[in-house]
Amino acid sequence: MNKVSPVKSTGRGVNRAPSRAHTVNAPVKPLKGNKGFLDAIFNSLEDELIVIDRDYRIIQANEAALSRHGRHRRGIIGKPCYEISHGQPGPCHPPHHECPLQEVWETGKPARVTHCHISHVNGEERERYLDIIASPITDKRGNVIAVTEIMRDVTEAKEAESRSVEAYKNLVALNTIATAVNQSLDLDTVLYSAIEKTLEIMRRNTGGILLLDEEKQMLCYRVHNGLSKEYAQSVCFRLGEGIVGKVAQSGEAIMVDDVSTDPRIAHPGLIAAERLRAFAAIPLRVRDKILGVLTIASHDARKFSGEDVQLLESIASQIAIAVENATLHQEVQHKDESRGELLGEIFSIQEEERRRIARELHDETSQSLASLAASLEAVAVMLPSGADKARARLKKIEQVALSALDEIHRIIYELRPTLLDDLGLVAAVRWLANNNLGSAGIEVIFKTTGRVRRLTPKVETILFRVIQEAVSNIARHAHARHVDLTLRYKKDTIIVHIKDDGEGFAVEEAMSSRERPRGLGLLGMKERVELVHGALNIRSVPGSGTEVQMEIPLNPEVADG
Ligand SMILES: Nc1ncnc2c1ncn2[C@@H]1O[C@H](COP(=O)(O)OP(=O)(O)OP(=O)(O)O)[C@@H](O)[C@H]1O
Ligand SMILES: [Mg+2]
Repeated sequence: MNKVSPVKSTGRGVNRAPSRAHTVNAPVKPLKGNKGFLDAIFNSLEDELIVIDRDYRIIQANEAALSRHGRHRRGIIGKPCYEISHGQPGPCHPPHHECPLQEVWETGKPARVTHCHISHVNGEERERYLDIIASPITDKRGNVIAVTEIMRDVTEAKEAESRSVEAYKNLVALNTIATAVNQSLDLDTVLYSAIEKTLEIMRRNTGGILLLDEEKQMLCYRVHNGLSKEYAQSVCFRLGEGIVGKVAQSGEAIMVDDVSTDPRIAHPGLIAAERLRAFAAIPLRVRDKILGVLTIASHDARKFSGEDVQLLESIASQIAIAVENATLHQEVQHKDESRGELLGEIFSIQEEERRRIARELHDETSQSLASLAASLEAVAVMLPSGADKARARLKKIEQVALSALDEIHRIIYELRPTLLDDLGLVAAVRWLANNNLGSAGIEVIFKTTGRVRRLTPKVETILFRVIQEAVSNIARHAHARHVDLTLRYKKDTIIVHIKDDGEGFAVEEAMSSRERPRGLGLLGMKERVELVHGALNIRSVPGSGTEVQMEIPLNPEVADG
């Protein structure tokens, strides 16, 4: 019997299909020279096995090989392997098929290749992949006298492999898109990177994103790549109009092999000028809402496959989510801006109104009270001697008028201290601290650091109002004995620090309290500071006092919003 060299592992391993089950009751004796037994082994294999001589002729074939070729033994034996396997007139050679036989004859070692066989089943072309292991049969002196070829059908494994490669590629593509579109919340940046990455993934050079204007019910290009500016700027589609309008209306993608000849196009002349061929339009949809359409096209005849469509639909849904996020973000920003503008307006109206009331109190009420006090004094002088009772009574009334005058002056100052306009923030804050805290027996240490200077009226007013609220809160709620109040003038910012040793409070709770109308003081402080792009920080521990710190940028452009 000829010696058969073992097949060397090629690293991929040789997977054996389970052979037909046989029940063996007695040990099988090796039957030397028993041809029937060898044939039985030969035919028991599910894999195809053929033996080939030096002239590529098949000299032996098992049942599996015969049945695949649907031939009788005499239709195969003696015929060249290339003719039987591939219907070719000569031996296999690259690039179509590599022939393993030559290598086995030359090296005396096994060789392994994979061949693709095209067969026709019911008029349909089918590809079959065969793993072929060619091994030498040698004589006693080690000379190769024939070659066996074991062929295993690996079509299913190949298909599964290519499916998982495809799925992996799609995942990588989606990840690339998701990363690109989630890097920004700016709508145009999102759309530009979305179209750029999509074209890169689809290996196409033309495309764009049209967004739906809900009011006008029109779709227009927001970004494009590879399209002429004239085309992208001049075409817009109503819902249902052209391919793009139909996609937005139905929510279903449309692919065409040659868009230039498609009867559904809305602008044939413009499309012809763009020389577009294969074309795909995919809806950008979030839940049931259509936000726009993604279009991809190429100038060559490469069609879009079913897999391309699936991938494009997944890409489109990623883009749609990013578009929705960016749009929502834009809306919130707009609302924030208008709210800020409105608050600024309200605060300046409030300041103006305070100024007006202070002026009126000063010009009318306080003037009248002052003249009343003066008149009372004059009348007292006019009284005849002996009218002591009446004089004492007049003196008392004059005292009441004078203390009402003092009170009015205090209110005028609270409303709008002239100190703030005339001498600036430091003088106004010092007056505020003495008047509200010092007068209540609370020790105040007021300090300034840095180069004290006049700030813009807007910043000084905001700082004054916020400090006024903090000081009034200490006077009303803290039960403090000691307060540190510091204004730090820096080059680009001013920092205010107010620390009391009072009873403290739960800041979060107080800020979110719904008990109105009181409790708006802290919120007002926050709103005012944010209006000039500053930051307010309140730290308080119940039982251990409160620290209020705010920092406001002094860059005039920033401070003026
Ligand atoms: N320095 C402080 N020490 C202790 N408690 C404070 C201090 N500042 C604020 N609080 C607590 O926080 C609550 C909310 O303060 P906020 O200034 O918002 O409202 P308010 O002073 O009660 O009313 P208003 O709307 O008139 O200012 C206060 O009621 C008080 O309980
Ligand atoms: Mg308050």
